[in-house]
Amino acid sequence: MNQFKWIINFWRPYKLKALLIMALTFAYGGFAICYPLIFKYIIDGLNTDFNAGGITKFVLILFASGALMALTYINLQRNRLVMNLTLERDIRNKTFDLLTRFGTSFYQKFGTGDIVTRLMDELEQLCHLSSSGIFRLVQVWLTIIFTICVLMALNVKLTLLSTLPLILVFAFYIVCDHDFFAKNRAMRDAVSAVNDAIETCFSGIQVVKSYCTEDYQRKYFDRVMEKRRDSELVLLALEQKMEFIYGFMSQVGMFVIVFYGGLMVLNNEITLGSFVAFSNYIMVLAGPLMELGWFLTSFRKGFVTIDRLMEIENEKPAVAKCANPIEPALAPGSNMPLIKLCGASFSYGDDFALKQISFEISRGEKIAIAGSFGSGKSTLLKLMMRFFDVDSGAIEFFGENIINLNLKSVRDKIGYVPQDCYLFSDTIMENIAFGRSHSETELACALETAQLNDTITTFRRGLNEEIGIRGLSLSGGQKQRVSIARALLKSPEILLLDDATSSLDNKTEDLFWDKLEANYGKVSVIFASHRLNTIKRADRVLVLSEGKLAEGGTFEELMQNSEIFKKLIQSEKNNQ
Ligand SMILES: Nc1ncnc2c1ncn2[C@@H]1O[C@H](COP(=O)(O)OP(=O)(O)OP(=O)(O)O)[C@@H](O)[C@H]1O
Ligand SMILES: [Mg+2]
Repeated sequence: MNQFKWIINFWRPYKLKALLIMALTFAYGGFAICYPLIFKYIIDGLNTDFNAGGITKFVLILFASGALMALTYINLQRNRLVMNLTLERDIRNKTFDLLTRFGTSFYQKFGTGDIVTRLMDELEQLCHLSSSGIFRLVQVWLTIIFTICVLMALNVKLTLLSTLPLILVFAFYIVCDHDFFAKNRAMRDAVSAVNDAIETCFSGIQVVKSYCTEDYQRKYFDRVMEKRRDSELVLLALEQKMEFIYGFMSQVGMFVIVFYGGLMVLNNEITLGSFVAFSNYIMVLAGPLMELGWFLTSFRKGFVTIDRLMEIENEKPAVAKCANPIEPALAPGSNMPLIKLCGASFSYGDDFALKQISFEISRGEKIAIAGSFGSGKSTLLKLMMRFFDVDSGAIEFFGENIINLNLKSVRDKIGYVPQDCYLFSDTIMENIAFGRSHSETELACALETAQLNDTITTFRRGLNEEIGIRGLSLSGGQKQRVSIARALLKSPEILLLDDATSSLDNKTEDLFWDKLEANYGKVSVIFASHRLNTIKRADRVLVLSEGKLAEGGTFEELMQNSEIFKKLIQSEKNNQ
């Protein structure tokens, strides 16, 4: 079973712990089994020639085994619980790590609410099953097998009759299994849909409010909740049916003992002590039988969770990891281009977003990427960040194909400001530093260049001002400047700005470019923009048109020779 293998993989680092828990499980199971046997010997002894000394000896044995049993149980339970929490940590960490490796296509397929459901709600139950569940199941099986062996030793015929319900329980489980799995899966998917609806509605609450679509959202939420309720009710009905049958079957054994066992005592086929032992053992068996039913259904539920996690694991990461990555570096004095694109083509689906793009960028150059809406500017910058791999052609950094380079080191050298500059619900300082260490001079330099100093002084807590969910309390221009400061604080060798100054006024933008030149003169800057004021700052302009590189040259050259560029600039002027 794939699901069992999946759990066992998480147990690999804890082999000794598993052995200890297994030993404690066996010890506890053994004690629990011996207990009713001691009673049998006392009763049979009382019926014959027992004396006070004999009773005292049995009481002492009873006391000692009871104390040992309690001690074993406490240790067993503690170890099982520790492992529940340890596995929960490991499984969540592994899944989280996996999730951070996927590209945007993965997040287009799986909604945030769905991912949170898989990572949080369902995992808790699964982790309980992966440790406590497994060992309690072992304990249940041990009790059942031990009990049946002891019963066999006492009387074979009565044992076979009284354990018949066990076989029926299994037959019933096998009949219901497929249905149970399917209904469980439907219920989990419905829960994910509800969480997705919550996430989508509240992360876009401003849009919801501005379009007055609260009613539509409420109705949509009502529909997904109705679906969730229906699927839970269907599952509940099946669970109740299964529980009833399991409970009933465990009682049937007792009826058999009282009826046949009673007749056998009357016919002197078994002793009264054996009859009492049988009754006690059937009581002992009733608990595990009920539990077995619960375990079978719980494991089925756990398997659905594992299935949903394996679905995530089986997704292919957006970019393949290189087995022997090379560290990106350009030899001092080398005149090799810093970045080189050789016939790079890329498509998100059927249509090409970029076709046969070739150009070179030297160290310290400032390159503008111009083009109309949807021409592929952002896609080009994302390819340079290696969020995706090109379909054909190659992208080279420092003279080496990016697919052979250590991706972390490449990204470390790049300061990237995305078009939808994302901020986290934290302080301005945390959003800029983003967990990286930096000196005071580096921070001052980044703040000065990003034109943030004046803004910071307007906040009561300065850099420690909380900026609300996704920077709700900042203006568009402030958000862009915080994102730029974040990229600059990395002291990057390459700066990729995706329309990152679109919300700045011309004066602030000019100040930004001047300070960038003064403080980060050696940094190569590649920036996508529509704005005339921004494009003019470039040493060279590359013009994209419908995913193709249409033109390239200085601003003046293009204004003289390129019709596409002139049209683009004219439409930009008309928009101003
Ligand atoms: N994640 C995606 N999945 C599918 N298609 C996409 C995706 N992102 C972009 N595209 C498509 O790729 C093409 C290029 O998009 P891109 O965002 O690179 O354009 P752009 O030049 O940056 O546009 P803008 O000026 O509006 O920012 C567009 O046709 C767009 O619809
Ligand atoms: Mg764009």
